[in-house]
Amino acid sequence: MVGAAEVAARASAAGLDAARLPRHVAIIMDGNGRWATARKQDRTRGHEQGAMVVRAITTASVKLGIARLTLYAFSSENWSRPQLEVDFLMGLLERFLEGELATLMENGVRLEAIGSLERLPAAVRSTLERIIRTTSANSAMTLCLALSYGGRDELVDACRAIAALVAAGRLDAGQITASTLQAHLYAPAASDVDVVIRTAGEMRLSNFLIWQATYAEYVSVAPLWPDFSVSDYHAALAEYQRRERRFGGL
Ligand code: IPE
Ligand code: IPE
Ligand code: MG
Repeated sequence: MVGAAEVAARASAAGLDAARLPRHVAIIMDGNGRWATARKQDRTRGHEQGAMVVRAITTASVKLGIARLTLYAFSSENWSRPQLEVDFLMGLLERFLEGELATLMENGVRLEAIGSLERLPAAVRSTLERIIRTTSANSAMTLCLALSYGGRDELVDACRAIAALVAAGRLDAGQITASTLQAHLYAPAASDVDVVIRTAGEMRLSNFLIWQATYAEYVSVAPLWPDFSVSDYHAALAEYQRRERRFGGL
């Protein structure tokens, strides 16, 4: 973990209250295509530029002592994009993972992935598995990539696993609780999401972490993902800190 005194100094320099930082930040990285189109470039250029922003935001999160950062990198629905774009994104993902390993190690970041990972090309999956293994002992922060991820798929998969236990006589249907469901999510040990940040001014969840973000604060920011800077990130966290979280209580 990053030292408390260091975090406090960095938080206050960023205009943030160190005592009220989120534990789990989730980001919907949106607007890559628009960024490129505005420059009369191919959408793929936007994805390339966007990939570079991931490092800056990951490092900034480590510096603030955030425990978990989940990034929506590719949704279940994104498979429906033109094959050329999908292929490009898969290639980019593989290059990104290779290129990030050193920085992840330097910063003590453990990589995780959630989603229907079996749908990813074999080469991407094996690179992903290798980086996950190599970083598994790191403890400063967990970077979780949502890849081929859909919140509904995740809940359907959990229901199937639970139903199989019931069918096998290992679980009584009457004993199923929210904790049972939580235990069958892709990352069962992850804490609930505190804040969902979405770039490009959009205000929807697009099937992201529907279970985990039930009581998250939502912060929509105008910059397109390739333009999203560390100071934009700090501003989004400051917006989160201005919210009053009530969890249904008084
Ligand atoms: C986000 O940017 C990246 C992915 C969904 C993979 P988009 O590609 O959705 O960019 P816009 O929304 O078309 O601008
Ligand atoms: C959500 O963005 C998925 C990711 C950022 C990976 P989309 O661009 O796919 O979402 P919609 O289609 O605008 O809702
Ligand atoms: Mg989009």
